[in-house]
Amino acid sequence: MAKVYVFDHPLIQHKLTYIRDINTGTKEFRELVDEVATLMAFEITRELPLQEIEIETPVNKTTSKVLAGKKLGVVPILRAGLGMVDGILKLIPAAKVGHIGLYRDPETLKPVEYYVKLPSDIQERELIVVDPMLATGGSAIEAINSLKKRGAQHIQFMCLIAAPEGVEALKEAHPDVDIYIAALDEKLNDHGYIVPGLGDAGDRLFGTK
Ligand code: PRP
Ligand code: URA
Repeated sequence: MAKVYVFDHPLIQHKLTYIRDINTGTKEFRELVDEVATLMAFEITRELPLQEIEIETPVNKTTSKVLAGKKLGVVPILRAGLGMVDGILKLIPAAKVGHIGLYRDPETLKPVEYYVKLPSDIQERELIVVDPMLATGGSAIEAINSLKKRGAQHIQFMCLIAAPEGVEALKEAHPDVDIYIAALDEKLNDHGYIVPGLGDAGDRLFGTK
């Protein structure tokens, strides 16, 4: 069964408060999303395998640990997922980046796929699917369906804010995918927006409306 982790680190919670605030403008919103993505990436990479190598310090020869070269991939769900990519790549710069374009139909709330471009070896990679919002869960479920259809085997999902409805739907659809969240909010409203949430993540990141 999928595990759900809520990162309650004080720095993440502090920055998330300003991300939520309606008075936070586009520039600061973007910077804060980038910073929280880095902090979450730090937590999510905690279990990466290590190997010993030999090195020489100015004092003597020794063995020391480095990452064991696991192949990673980051897959933002367009558009809003793009805001989290650079923050993650600061910590894992060698990761490949795939893109899945989905938008949520405002009437049906169902995701509509319009773009997919992935690294050719996704079946060998540990993939982190990123999107700031997990609302009904439709977009995340569809993005992961799309990855699995193309052979992906190891997938994690990371978002800033989730609604309980989205977490349940994603766990049920993809029990093999662990979910990493900065905050688990109260509910969805009648328009499928997360309450209290942060509004429309894509619009706030890119200054559209
Ligand atoms: C938002 C958000 C998620 C989706 C979440 O994207 O970034 O992708 O909604 O909702 P769900 O869990 O109910 O599917 P949106 O469709 O607004 O597209 P955008 O990123 O292009 O703004
Ligand atoms: N998408 C968003 O951007 N925000 C929400 O609250 C729900 C879906």
